[in-house]
Amino acid sequence: MRAFIFGSKGQLGKAFARRFEKEGWEYLGADSDELDVTNPVQVTEALSIYRPGLIINCSAYNQVDLAESNQKLAMDVNGYALRSIGMEAKKFETTLVHFGTDYVFDGSKKAPYTEQDSPNPLNAYGKSKLLGEKYALEPMGASVFRLSWVYGEGKQNFIYKVRQWAEKEGPLKIADDEISVPTYTEDVVDAVMAAMQRGLSGLWHLPGSGVCSRYEWAKEIIRLAGIDKEILPAKMADFPAAAKRPGYSAMDNSALCRELGIKIPHWKESLAKFMLGKN
Ligand SMILES: NC(=O)c1ccc[n+]([C@@H]2O[C@H](COP(=O)([O-])OP(=O)(O)OC[C@H]3O[C@@H](n4cnc5c(N)ncnc54)[C@H](OP(=O)(O)O)[C@@H]3O)[C@@H](O)[C@H]2O)c1
Repeated sequence: MRAFIFGSKGQLGKAFARRFEKEGWEYLGADSDELDVTNPVQVTEALSIYRPGLIINCSAYNQVDLAESNQKLAMDVNGYALRSIGMEAKKFETTLVHFGTDYVFDGSKKAPYTEQDSPNPLNAYGKSKLLGEKYALEPMGASVFRLSWVYGEGKQNFIYKVRQWAEKEGPLKIADDEISVPTYTEDVVDAVMAAMQRGLSGLWHLPGSGVCSRYEWAKEIIRLAGIDKEILPAKMADFPAAAKRPGYSAMDNSALCRELGIKIPHWKESLAKFMLGKN
């Protein structure tokens, strides 16, 4: 199988590239410096020349707060780009894999969201990602996996930020009323590879297992890093931000686990694997 990765230098894109290399798959990756997914001509050209059997779209505009003032860019990258990628996938009968977010939910359920729950995004980022899901799912056979609190190789994640903040003076204050699930890129790749082997399509929730607050997550990061730092629970309202965020956006991965006959590791297990390099 020959694969094409959009957003190949992001956290998830790199994890897919590593896996394809390890498994000897033929693949090509492009990121924003080589190909702009908002430019349909570039998208068409790349896909029509390479003719992949699988498209993995890891490109995204993930700056949740900046998306409020850059709504057009967020819509173009996270939403409308999926119209052209989706159309090309359909034209070439190529399987399309795309990724969504827990921020399509408004948090009012206060229990893990399933694929049957209705989205109601609170911010521009969530709205743009919801539009992308819709376009991605239009071609028959496409799959969309919703993720939350993604981390892996790279600096654009909470683990890197917590370690940076921990170098500053005084205790760390982290919200204990912001709840979701940390999701390790390697777990996403494992599940997507299993889904592709089964020819699975449609919309699926693919977070890590378990649920936690940002505060609990930060405490575990500091513990695993062996850093001596006091962490105090705070509230989301203590950190005014441009974008409104759901307080509770944890998703339930049990439908996907059942369908594939897999277990997705608990977030603490995966965090230890990532930070300590072991289970
Ligand atoms: N990160 C999270 O916490 C989180 C949470 C829920 C869902 N997700 C979803 O999970 C998926 C993977 O996220 P990730 O954390 O791997 O993201 P990431 O590390 O931010 O990677 C996204 C990549 O897309 C590239 N990109 C941005 N605009 C582009 C454009 N116009 N054309 C081509 N490439 C472009 C970025 O390049 P530049 O760096 O040059 O902009 C970056 O390399 C995304 O769909 C994301 O929305 C992520």
